[in-house]
Amino acid sequence: MSEFVFSYDKALNFVTKVEIHRFQEDIDRHFKAIYNKTGKGNDFLGWVDLPDNIGETLISRIEDAAKKMQDQSDVFVVIGIGGSYLGARAVIEALSHHFGHLRQEKKSPVILYAGNNISEDYLADLMDVLKNRDYSVAVISKSGTTTEPAIAFRILREDLESKYGTEESRRRIVAITDREKGALKQLADEKGYETFVIPDDVGGRYSVLTPVGLLPIAVAGFDIRQLLEGAKAMKALISKSEKIDENPVSAYAAVRNALYNKGYTTEIMVNYEPRLFYFTEWWKQLFGESEGKENKGIFPAGVSFTTDLHSMGQYIQEGLRNIFETVLSVENPRRELTIPDDEKNLDKLNYIAGKAIHEVNRQAELGTMLAHVDGGVPNLRISVPEINENILGRLIYFYETACALSGYILGINPFDQPGVEAYKRNMFALLGKPGFEKETENIRKRL
Ligand code: PA5
Repeated sequence: MSEFVFSYDKALNFVTKVEIHRFQEDIDRHFKAIYNKTGKGNDFLGWVDLPDNIGETLISRIEDAAKKMQDQSDVFVVIGIGGSYLGARAVIEALSHHFGHLRQEKKSPVILYAGNNISEDYLADLMDVLKNRDYSVAVISKSGTTTEPAIAFRILREDLESKYGTEESRRRIVAITDREKGALKQLADEKGYETFVIPDDVGGRYSVLTPVGLLPIAVAGFDIRQLLEGAKAMKALISKSEKIDENPVSAYAAVRNALYNKGYTTEIMVNYEPRLFYFTEWWKQLFGESEGKENKGIFPAGVSFTTDLHSMGQYIQEGLRNIFETVLSVENPRRELTIPDDEKNLDKLNYIAGKAIHEVNRQAELGTMLAHVDGGVPNLRISVPEINENILGRLIYFYETACALSGYILGINPFDQPGVEAYKRNMFALLGKPGFEKETENIRKRL
């Protein structure tokens, strides 16, 4: 099959081709705004050119730094949250052995994550497992001031310094942050950490193809050149035509907006491979943080089937009819395992004996698609032949562009996130942060 197919024929009972093609004019205009950098939030369109512009010097620097980290570490801790975390985890988990932590013959360090929550138990447990292991960290924050990673980094930095001493701990820390602003940049300069820059014109959730994603992915032992090649190939593909019938990004953006206008306000991204769980989380952040504004936006949800068919499946089949699904369908598994024959056949499975497990998964996928369509859930589908670095690069670039285009169709700025400040202000006031004295007094009265 081809590297990437987007299809929406199973949505056509719910929305017509005419309703979809009505977006063509908007799409032509918005693609121009993206490529000419003239639309809303145009200071943050640097991701558009990343696959072509990254440059050999930076790629080699990332690979060299990753090699050093691999050689000196049993464990590599990636500290970051939101866009400074999910892209790396999405790719690493999609490519890793499911039980890699327990395998003896690992070539790369085990990758663990910190700074993506404020759980004391989580951090304390992490410190337990780091105690008797050699480890290094990447601390990633564009602003350099985000509370969650800052707390985790303070604890890990002190631990590294007491375990290895000042000189050696310095070699075990890589900082990925703004070119010149923020507390992390200042700390990195003072301590002399190796530093990578997050470009000014790339926002967190669009930053997986910068050192934010590329360094951890390289440390985990995966091919960042192929990831970038895949993104490049998708960029080339969608540059040929903006027509809905010829460009999968245009088609996806048009169909989801046509469905939204008809009351389908929740999109569920469906996977049938547990390795895609964090890819779905990355997608949820990309679309949720980009589109959910001005009291508008499709709510992005995610499910892993067949697991969630035994939980959320009931709601999807028969609950409120405001949802549509987009299945990320993988044609070929990475491994082979068939169902054995059993003489007694007490479990009545002999009718599928000899079949590959993936074949059963595939029939579950097709059966579910039809059941959900019959139940009133429009079905979109993105099919890829397999999961590898190149395909993940294609998917990343596809979704980033679709998100920008879709956000412009919706009429919002897909590159800011003003709403995430509300919880931070309240938290700072409750914690008594200097500068928040007035808010502290007011908020305490409300509790
Ligand atoms: O996409 C975004 O901009 C956010 O999710 C940020 O990445 C997230 O809040 C972390 O910010 P920072 O990298 O400044 O620590």
